[in-house]
Amino acid sequence: MNTDWTGGYVVDVPYTEALTSDLCPAWFSMIAVLNGQPPLPTDRRLTWADVGCGNGLTACMVAAGNPNVDVWGVDFNPTHVERARHVANAVGIDNATFEEASFEAIARDDALGPHEIDVVVVHGVYSWISTENQGHIVEFIRRRLRPGGLAYIMYEVATGWAGMIPLAELLRLTVDADRRRSDLALADAVRTLLELRDRGAKYFPVGPHETNQVEKMSNADAFYAAHEYLGSHFAPLTFDAVATRMAGAHCSHLGTSDATGHMRGMWLSPEIASTFEHQPDEVAREQMFDLVVQRALRRDIYRRGKATVPGSVSEGWKRDLRLIGLDRDFKPGDPFKVLLGEVRVDNDIYEPLVQHLRSSDLRLSDVQTIHPQLDLADAYAAMCLLADAGFAFPISPTSREDEAGIAARRMNEFMIAENRRGRDHLALVSPAIGSAIGSDFIELFTLGELWSGPGHDLEVLVESVLDDLERQGRRVRAADGSPIGGRNEARAVVVEAVGRTLGRMSGVLRRLGIS
Ligand SMILES: C[S@@+](CC[C@H](N)C(=O)[O-])C[C@H]1O[C@@H](n2cnc3c(N)ncnc32)[C@H](O)[C@@H]1O
Repeated sequence: MNTDWTGGYVVDVPYTEALTSDLCPAWFSMIAVLNGQPPLPTDRRLTWADVGCGNGLTACMVAAGNPNVDVWGVDFNPTHVERARHVANAVGIDNATFEEASFEAIARDDALGPHEIDVVVVHGVYSWISTENQGHIVEFIRRRLRPGGLAYIMYEVATGWAGMIPLAELLRLTVDADRRRSDLALADAVRTLLELRDRGAKYFPVGPHETNQVEKMSNADAFYAAHEYLGSHFAPLTFDAVATRMAGAHCSHLGTSDATGHMRGMWLSPEIASTFEHQPDEVAREQMFDLVVQRALRRDIYRRGKATVPGSVSEGWKRDLRLIGLDRDFKPGDPFKVLLGEVRVDNDIYEPLVQHLRSSDLRLSDVQTIHPQLDLADAYAAMCLLADAGFAFPISPTSREDEAGIAARRMNEFMIAENRRGRDHLALVSPAIGSAIGSDFIELFTLGELWSGPGHDLEVLVESVLDDLERQGRRVRAADGSPIGGRNEARAVVVEAVGRTLGRMSGVLRRLGIS
């Protein structure tokens, strides 16, 4: 009997548990519309498959925030599936199921998982598995994705990662020769690699992105780094390789899941833009773009078939998009940070838009009322930039806030309770967006305390948050990130942070349905 079921994938340490907020229906609909295609249907239930779902936290977020979506998560690591089922059970999520199965099994066995799927998500998986397993995932998409369905595939790209291949190989060989668990052995393997670099190995310096990765390695979360580097199939890909395979599943590339990747003018100097325009082939142009921006990661969205849509209809979808503000501070002169880098923006355009988002949703018509000089394309580009830079998020068109609100609240309470036992969930699920926003321990413990019963005054809240933090050995940090020593010094920071949360509760958190 073959007892190695791992296909060279790391299974001796579990993966991390972050919630990936843009893997949700509202965000995918925004990207589809941005690329001239219909948003996801809202007149029926959707089926959502998370392939290689890990611990299932993102899948549970989608299920809790979107009661109209049936979520199915699959992973071959039983530890992950057990954890995902535990979270779904504990939160009382009844629209998510998790299955222990390999990519090979789901490609072959039609009885595993839903028959017709609206969205397939492949996140943190595709460039870390063998080409056979990549083929199984594409075959699964070919057999199950419905016409008009979306497939999201994230993968590392050779333009920003190729230099890491021999380094990851060395790490894997060193860890394999060590008898300890991967995360423990990895720290020493990284130390050896850095010694080589510092003592003059001629392979260094590697490319700018890879240099950054090597720098970050010694401080990286060991569980994340083990999955990132130690799989025996770690191999960054090219756009062409993935697009060709997806064509076999009858899927066409729509765009990237960041909402600004298509704004080529922002990323190409005029000299490079002319070389670019002379390239007639779409795939070659995409690869050329990846070289220019030294892209390290692609998060591509494919569609099974492209709808032919009159311009007035696609304009209508754009006009329907509503963004909700996330209360991020706008500092005039500060660039917006998005996936491909930093964007300098015109304060006169963006400051009033961010201001508008503090009290109301933002639609295309609002942008054009505030800035009548912007045409439709520029106004929509401004909305995309606001979303990508974290100032706003698309509102879920289907979220029935009462139902989603109950499930989201249960998931938030569950995460806070787990944080009290030492987990690190730094997110809050919002029914308004059908997704999650980032948070911090002080905000989460303040909410936990407030939700546990009525009648908390500020002093009681602050002391109970300090108790929570102290019990778990979590250090309060000053604004510059430096840790603060004693309880008395920490109190000043906590008083301010609790006050901020109370303000957010009557502002942004209420708008997001987090209450
Ligand atoms: C890096 S994790 C990503 C998890 C999750 N998608 C996320 O982003 O948080 C990759 C996942 O793929 C799963 N996986 C790897 N090879 C697999 C295979 N052949 N069949 C099924 N799952 C597999 C692993 O167990 C792991 O949970």
